[in-house]
Amino acid sequence: MCGIVGYVGKEQATPILLDGLQKLEYRGYDSAGVCIGDGNQLQVVKAKGRLAHLAELTDGGKSLHGSVGIGHTRWATHGAPSDENSHPHAADQGKIVVVHNGIIENYQKLKEMLQANGKQFHSETDTEVVANLVEYFYDQGFDFKMSVRKAVERIEGSYALGILCRDYPGTIIAVKKDSPLIFGFGDGCNYIASDVPAILKYTRDVAYLNDGDMVIFTDHDALFFDGAGDPITKTPEHITWDTEAAEKGGYEHFMLKEIHEQPKAIRDTLSPRMKDGKIVLDDITLSADYLRNLRRVYAVACGSAYYVGVQSKYIIEKLCQVPVEPVLASEFRYSDPVLGADTLVLIISQSGETADTLAALRLAKEKGARTLAIVNVVGSSIAKLADDVIYTWAGPEIAVATTKAYSTQLAVVDLLALYMAQCLETVEPKRFDYLYGELQSLPEKVEQVLDDSVIEKIQYYASRYFNNRDVFYIGRNLDSATCLEGSLKLKEIAYLHSEAYAAGELKHGPISLIEDGTLVVAIATNRALFDKTMSNVKEVKARGAEVLGLTVPSCEEEIHKTVDSVVLIPETDTLFQPNLSIVPLQCFAYYVALMRGCDVDKPRNLAKSVTVE
Ligand code: F6R
Repeated sequence: MCGIVGYVGKEQATPILLDGLQKLEYRGYDSAGVCIGDGNQLQVVKAKGRLAHLAELTDGGKSLHGSVGIGHTRWATHGAPSDENSHPHAADQGKIVVVHNGIIENYQKLKEMLQANGKQFHSETDTEVVANLVEYFYDQGFDFKMSVRKAVERIEGSYALGILCRDYPGTIIAVKKDSPLIFGFGDGCNYIASDVPAILKYTRDVAYLNDGDMVIFTDHDALFFDGAGDPITKTPEHITWDTEAAEKGGYEHFMLKEIHEQPKAIRDTLSPRMKDGKIVLDDITLSADYLRNLRRVYAVACGSAYYVGVQSKYIIEKLCQVPVEPVLASEFRYSDPVLGADTLVLIISQSGETADTLAALRLAKEKGARTLAIVNVVGSSIAKLADDVIYTWAGPEIAVATTKAYSTQLAVVDLLALYMAQCLETVEPKRFDYLYGELQSLPEKVEQVLDDSVIEKIQYYASRYFNNRDVFYIGRNLDSATCLEGSLKLKEIAYLHSEAYAAGELKHGPISLIEDGTLVVAIATNRALFDKTMSNVKEVKARGAEVLGLTVPSCEEEIHKTVDSVVLIPETDTLFQPNLSIVPLQCFAYYVALMRGCDVDKPRNLAKSVTVE
């Protein structure tokens, strides 16, 4: 969601900003713009549409001169995508120019106050209020820094702001609350950005701004202040991963690359935490005593991360006999969950910045629950706020639709469940050893799922079914949780209507939607429930459905008797089967999307990091 880049240095700023914004395209956007400072001139160029359009308007950046600038990709919230609503926004007198990520909740009240004081507005955005508010204080004689400080004191909501002032050439002020912003330390230049990939080509030394932090910077200097206005020191953190990790590396799309990175991502996530037959979670402080007194776990997240929470219910309950309740973060935050010291709130988030998930985390902490976050982005807001963090070592995930982050979140849930079982002694030693071995061998098994022969089969099924109108995913137990994620993948990137149902639930209503040729994807990897699932498959077949079955070798012969086509995945313990089943479903959605001509990495209306409610 909205991307920000800022640069002050000796080079021409526009090409650097365009390049940085391009790296943030994955966040989702519908318009883009830059403001470049050249002496006391601030020049804004912005337009609805793709960055390529902005690049055309500025002749690849060559037609805009100046070595300081702020750039922005906008994902519309207040006001439709249009040239006027695009960022940057200049204040009425043009003294202040702003880019913003987040939502100003009290913008209407502020706008009325500013209008009453003579400020004119030219867009429907909440951001224009910020530009005018800073200028309003500046007009009263406050300097640039104080004007920004006074403005943010009056703003309610979330923001990461990059701000220029006509009278302070070569200076940018940035400030943030509840929206991500990093500072990049360069050599004779400095940067801000919403995310590391935007500036990784230029610097590896970054500082993560905390809520309330402000930075005032030029090409040779950066002064940091906390929310109270006191000076603070920021020590650069060195980014060790390569720019390659944020590039396509020969794949046609980031999504395909990330699907293929899953064996490595899962290995990187699991192996440092598995030592000599034991699960070692050095990163967390949950004691055996605490776990023994634990009454309930809430798994709180949004979207795919929430579906990992649904999986966690089956896995943790089975291995640890502790009740787990998966709850959508957007619901959790406005409900009245029963929380206390004997409740563990598991917060799952790739970005670590999802607004609803962050708010749920705050609520859990306020109510005295212990919080444990599973996060991919190091130093993100959720990672910093939670009592404990287990990082997923998936590396940067660029495609909007998650794949490797989902898989590594699930791997962490497996680790956590085994860790809890180890502390609580709820699993027989022999079974524990078996599960340990199965978990360890997951990366190789995911590799087998990604074998060319399996992929070719999936490509063939995609070509056969890509024109279907509706797709249903059915399964039981853990397979039903996998259905949720498989169906979401198809919806979000292939724009194909699909639904996920627990197989036994179909006949309670949705079966009326099955007609001749409706595609049903039946996941049946659990031997004990295989016959039950096949009964449901027969029910849909009797109504004309075409069924694609996903199963394991031990059920292969039987499934062929019931379904029309089959995808086979390697066998592991039932509890870990979802780690393998999801991979062909991701590939299926990917190839269906390709065949339907969809923009796989940047699906319409979606954003990577959802920093608004
Ligand atoms: C779907 C997807 C989203 C995210 C959700 C939560 O492919 O990526 O459903 O899972 O927006 O995002 P994070 O995990 O960053 O909190």
